Formats: sequence, structure tokens, C-alpha cells
Amino acid sequence: STRASDTLVVFGITGDLGRKMTLRSLYRLERRGLLDCRVIGVASTDMSTAQLVAYARETVAATGEQVEDAVFQRFAGRLTYVHGDVLDDALYAQLAREIGPGHRPLYYLEMPPALFAPIVERLGKADILGTACVAVEKPFGNDLESARELNARLRAVLDESQLLRVDHFLGKEPVIELEYLRFANPALAGLWDRNSVSAVQITMAEDFGVEDRGKFYDSVGALRDVVQNHLLQVLALVTMDPPTRADADSVRDKKAEILGAVRAADPEHCVRGQYAGYADVPGVAAGSTTETFTALRLEVENWRWADVPFFLRTGKKLPLRATEVRLLLRRAPRLACLPTPTQAEQNQIVLRIDPDPGLRVQLVGQGGDEAWRPINLNASFAPDVGEPFEPYERLLHSALTGDHRLFTREDSVEESWRIVQPLLDNPPEVHPYQPGSWGPEEAKRLVRGHPSWREPWTGPAR
Ligand code: BG6
Repeated sequence: STRASDTLVVFGITGDLGRKMTLRSLYRLERRGLLDCRVIGVASTDMSTAQLVAYARETVAATGEQVEDAVFQRFAGRLTYVHGDVLDDALYAQLAREIGPGHRPLYYLEMPPALFAPIVERLGKADILGTACVAVEKPFGNDLESARELNARLRAVLDESQLLRVDHFLGKEPVIELEYLRFANPALAGLWDRNSVSAVQITMAEDFGVEDRGKFYDSVGALRDVVQNHLLQVLALVTMDPPTRADADSVRDKKAEILGAVRAADPEHCVRGQYAGYADVPGVAAGSTTETFTALRLEVENWRWADVPFFLRTGKKLPLRATEVRLLLRRAPRLACLPTPTQAEQNQIVLRIDPDPGLRVQLVGQGGDEAWRPINLNASFAPDVGEPFEPYERLLHSALTGDHRLFTREDSVEESWRIVQPLLDNPPEVHPYQPGSWGPEEAKRLVRGHPSWREPWTGPAR
């Protein structure tokens, strides 16, 4: 579907995501001159549109955004508030009146996943679904079976082309950059396979803990929270073959194909950790074995990647915040006039996703008294002018303009759950680790016989 929406209906506008992201992103799109629709906010709180406008202004300012009067006036002019119980048919009758006939809404469900299907079914019953699109936030399912059930229930009312599954990593500029880097640059493309790459490390490190999300996080854990979705989507973009058509399904076909080639994870090749102090976080169950750290090895079984191990790791309370993809290239052959290749560091290509996105190519040079020295080619992705889009700005704009490339499709969501399912069925024991460390010692065992974990690159100098 490439048709744009003329009305955005946000269910749960006063929730956490609305407060932190959605209102600010819409405001920023307004400032860029890219917002071109009405915005109907839905929530259960009894308040007026004027109160929503005041709330929006406050929350946008609270995110640190400079609120310009003229821009905000334009944005406020788009807002309407509708309140009610999302399980009550009366709310949908009211929404139908508010939307009016002949419009094409985008319904954005910033709601607990258990409400996705009940809401969509009621939109259908109230006859305000039609060819509208529906965007849903993560988590999409809790395991393979629940993801299938949710897909089936939504698909009973919606066509796949109407359904936008949000993964905010796909809205990050450096993640979008991956496709360009790989397929617009023969200089890199020629290195991008098993002939040149000996291992890949994908790290998503966070230096903060679970804080006020104890109750949510404890039922989820690192694997479900970020590996099944964000990190497997990144893995797919790193490993997929080039799309051959320009439509939204072409890239999603390639992603589904490559995820389908990833062997289901082996609990023997997974290490789980929990930071000391996690048990005291409010909302965390006594004796919880939920992981706040996980490291795993995956294999992509196709012509391009066979025998190249992919090591993924993520954790809370690690030494720093950094998300990167690191390709470790094969060592040079031995040459009499040079140091033995095993003395020098392997060549590496590092794509830094967060923070301060950029690219590093690490080479080996002569070392004077030493056997070698590193030569690092570092580039920042920061544009010379203008402010890059934030992930939710990018995603909202794509969704509203009918561009569905950046949303995950049913098949790749189910493939991702299939890949992690053995780790849910037979979770390896959870090891404690100290806040500020790189996770439990056992994570080193995982990479034995392969390149050891490299410290993430701290990013291009700004
Ligand atoms: C969310 C997870 O999806 O992504 C959080 O629920 C995590 O636990 C967050 O902290 C990280 O996103 P970002 O964009 O800040 O790297």
C-alpha cells in the first residue's frame, strides 16, 4: 500500500510512549513542514481537547525540545481529544463521528499488546477500518506461539499490507544507512561474505539498569526485549542479499529469506546474566531468573555466510552505552618481511549505531619499534547541516505517507521468534555479574576458538 493517511488516531496518547516520543516527533515533523493530517488522541482520562493541547505543549517541552509558538500553534490546530474505554463500543461510535466519512486513518496502538486484537476488532465492527492502516508497538508476542496467534487474530480483520509492526531500531538513521553502505558501495560489498569475514560481533550495551520498568522487564528479559526484535532485524540487514525491486515488499522478502536461513539458537551457545542488585528493583519477582544480559552465537546457513559465527550480546548496567556491528576480517597470509599475522589485530569494519553513528575501518600499519600499529579510518554520519530525523519521526512519517519498508512483516517476526524459541524453552542458567562489568565471565567461553569480544568503538570525534 502506498496511499497516505489523512488522519492519525493515537490510542494511548497520554501513555509513556506518547509522552516521551510520539508528541515530540509529531511536533518535529510539523516544524519540518512534513505533517499533513489531523491528529486524534484517544485515552481514558476525562479531559478536553484544550487540555490535551496544554498537555502536549508541556510534554514536548519536557523532552528538552525548543517549542516555537508558531509551529506549536499549527500543530495544536490538528489536535482533537476523544476519551473513553477502548473495550466500550461507544468510544468507536464517537471516533466514527470525529473521523467523518471519506477519510483514511492510520490507527497507532500505543497500548498493551493484549488490547491490539480487541481494538482492531472493534474498529472493524464500527466500520471505521476499511483500508486504513494500523500500527502496533512491540512486544509483538511473547514467544513463537503467541506471535502466531496474534498475527492470526489481527489478520482475520486486516490485510498484511494494512498492518505496521513498529520496531524503532528500523527508524534509526545508521540502521537505514546499512542498506546503502552495503549495496551502493562495491568497496564494501566485495568484503561482505565468508571469504573475507571470520566472525561478526553485534553489541548493544547499555550503562543503565531496569530502573522504573521492573514489572514489565521482569516478565520479558533481554532476549525478548531487544534480541528477538532489534538485534535480529540488524542481523538481517547485515546479512541479507540485495533487494531487487523498489517496493516495500522487496527488502522485506530479503529479510524474511535470510532470517529463514538462521539456524534456531542453541542453548549451549548462549550465556545469560543478571546484574547484582536487579532483585531489589521494584516490580521484580523474588528469586527472579530473568536475564538482564545475554550473549549468543548464531549461524546463517547460506552460501554467503556458512561457517561465519555471529555473536550477539546485550546487557543492562554494562560499562557504557554503545550499539555496534563489527565485522572481523580474515587475517593476512604470512609474509617473511612482515610481522606474523597473528601478532597484529584483525582488520575490522565497525558500524556504530548508537550513540554518535559512524563507520570505522581498522587497518594494520608499520609499528616502528613495535610489530605493527593500528590505522583507523573513522567517519561520522552526522550530517553537515540540519538535524537528523529521530527514529519515531522517521517511522511516523513513513507510516503516514504509506511507505511500509521500515515495518516488520509477519514472516520475519515469526522467523525471529523461531530463532530464539529454544532459548525460551530451555533457558541456560543465569549468572550474576557486577554492574559496570561486561557481563558474566562465561560470555568469554562463548567466543573461545574465535575472535574474543572487542571493546566497542567509542565513536567518531565530534
Ligand atoms: C527498547 C527496550 O525497545 O529499546 C529498552 O525495551 C531499551 O529496554 C531500548 O533500553 C533501547 O533503545 P535505544 O533507541 O535507546 O537504543
